[in-house]
Amino acid sequence: MSITMPTFTPAQESLFLTLGSRALDSRLPDPFLGDTMADQILRETGYDLAKFPTLTTQRFDARTKVFAVALRAKRLDEIASRFVGRHPDAVVMDLGVGLDSRILRVNPPSTVSWCDVDFPQIVDLRHQLLPAQVSAHSIGADLTDPNWLDEIPADRPAVIVADGLIAFLRQDDFVSLLHRLTNHFPSGEIAFNLYTTGAIWTAKHLRSLAAISAGLVNPGFNDPSRPERWVAGLKLAGEIFLTRAPEVAELPLATRLILRLAASSARASRMIGTTLVHYEF
Ligand SMILES: C[S@@+](CC[C@H](N)C(=O)[O-])C[C@H]1O[C@@H](n2cnc3c(N)ncnc32)[C@H](O)[C@@H]1O
Repeated sequence: MSITMPTFTPAQESLFLTLGSRALDSRLPDPFLGDTMADQILRETGYDLAKFPTLTTQRFDARTKVFAVALRAKRLDEIASRFVGRHPDAVVMDLGVGLDSRILRVNPPSTVSWCDVDFPQIVDLRHQLLPAQVSAHSIGADLTDPNWLDEIPADRPAVIVADGLIAFLRQDDFVSLLHRLTNHFPSGEIAFNLYTTGAIWTAKHLRSLAAISAGLVNPGFNDPSRPERWVAGLKLAGEIFLTRAPEVAELPLATRLILRLAASSARASRMIGTTLVHYEF
């Protein structure tokens, strides 16, 4: 079947950085995440990962290159799984889902209402590339549009994950989105990977991320409790520092040492490694 690929904006094209990382992870002998569907989808698109030299460079070993993206997906899967374990009537939302098929990894009970949201062009692509039982849960919308939530059940607890999304939302759009989500659902959890101000600055200036740098419009934030001040009722439930992940032991010595050194400090962990922030409302 031939795939019709849209012309991607930089924000949309970023989905190949995360999809590519998970695909490369799945090709490792002992993967961190092991999402073979990511590899299948990537191969079907025929996308050339050379657009993201961070994934194709020989300067870093294969495990170091995929560690952050593969493991943050795994941690977000765990947050969603635990939530649906406690709330079989939950709504799960994966915001800025790209071509991810988290639903297959989490495998929720049929009582859960699962919603994957991304731009309509990306949802078209999901319908072409993903198994129908996965793409059926997709909603094509710009998350900055105030009305897209109207069609989502509002009387059930929700777990909302956003993997790699926040960097592509302007600050006021991000804060409005948090307000809309917390006002829509009676209670729930929100988890996403943190972009510090330094991480945004670095990503904007890295030549290896040139394909997406124009889309990086969020300034980032360094204090995980800031969203509590933006949105009344949002409470920081925890931070997950990948510098402290047990899987660090599976990295080569040099990377392991750097992450282990940073691990004792929350500040250094946020600066050097990937951090997930997890809120309740
Ligand atoms: C880095 S990619 C991550 C994709 C996916 N979560 C993953 O882990 O593979 C960021 C995604 O956010 C989506 N996105 C960015 N801004 C958006 C917006 N305003 N509305 C809907 N989707 C958005 C992009 O289209 C892209 O798919």
